[in-house]
Amino acid sequence: MRFLDAEFVQGFIRMANDGWDLGWHERNGGNLSYRVKPEEVEEVKEHFVIKEWQPIGTSVPKLAGEYFLVTGSGKFFRNVIIKPEDSICMIELDEMGENYRIVWGLVNGGRPTSELPSHLMNHEVKMLATDGKHRVIYHAHTTNVIALTFVLPLTDEVFTRELWEMATECPVVFPQGIGVVPWMVPGGRDIAVATSELMKQYDVAIWAHHGMFASGEDFDLTFGLMHTVEKSAEILVKMLSMRPDKLQTITVQNFKDLAVDFKVELPEKFLYEK
Ligand code: 13P
Ligand code: ZN
Repeated sequence: MRFLDAEFVQGFIRMANDGWDLGWHERNGGNLSYRVKPEEVEEVKEHFVIKEWQPIGTSVPKLAGEYFLVTGSGKFFRNVIIKPEDSICMIELDEMGENYRIVWGLVNGGRPTSELPSHLMNHEVKMLATDGKHRVIYHAHTTNVIALTFVLPLTDEVFTRELWEMATECPVVFPQGIGVVPWMVPGGRDIAVATSELMKQYDVAIWAHHGMFASGEDFDLTFGLMHTVEKSAEILVKMLSMRPDKLQTITVQNFKDLAVDFKVELPEKFLYEK
């Protein structure tokens, strides 16, 4: 089988292109990574062209020996569908989880996303927290969520509650809530540590004035999660543009009733009286 024909590669490309279509990836904005299953590595390993080991910039010992499909640094999501071999790569981690090497892709040179430390530290946390189920980490520059980080207090409680209120499905799709990272310099270990700390509780973390990170089991669930949060943020931006207050909303009691019928646990800290 050709590398590009593998189902996981096709799924990755489709997700990247869907994000482009929704306007979340201006220029090289955003990045995507997928922790490849051992049987999927077997399917494509005959095509490997192995490059030199390079430092990750952080340490992810629990991910030692794992393979990831990732977008390249400075590469445009817009181009992933037309020239994937130039835009994305597959990497392997070493036995300490401190170095990576490219085993496929980025045929014209380059390196994995500058947010590799955040992606890998999030993968490590989510792999351990979900018994290995989560495999996708997605970073997007979602317009409406970014806009809200200029006008809402940067707390998990406010962002979660305000976004839950904008669409009835939200507490069902992200019942644990959403974490918020204050503005930090992107691309390094510090923001990776802050984000992965939030990922212990949440599947979504907002980066103030920058974008979002989402984690999930597969491409559909992770894309769907990002889409749901951003759609809710769009409704909130529209609502606030019409008038600053609400005539009616989903109440604390409504959330409690929803939690019973949909069998989700909604943490009390988000169900405060306003
Ligand atoms: P990369 O091009 O290195 O992936 O960076 C894009 C980005 O969104 C940084 O936060
Ligand atoms: Zn970014």
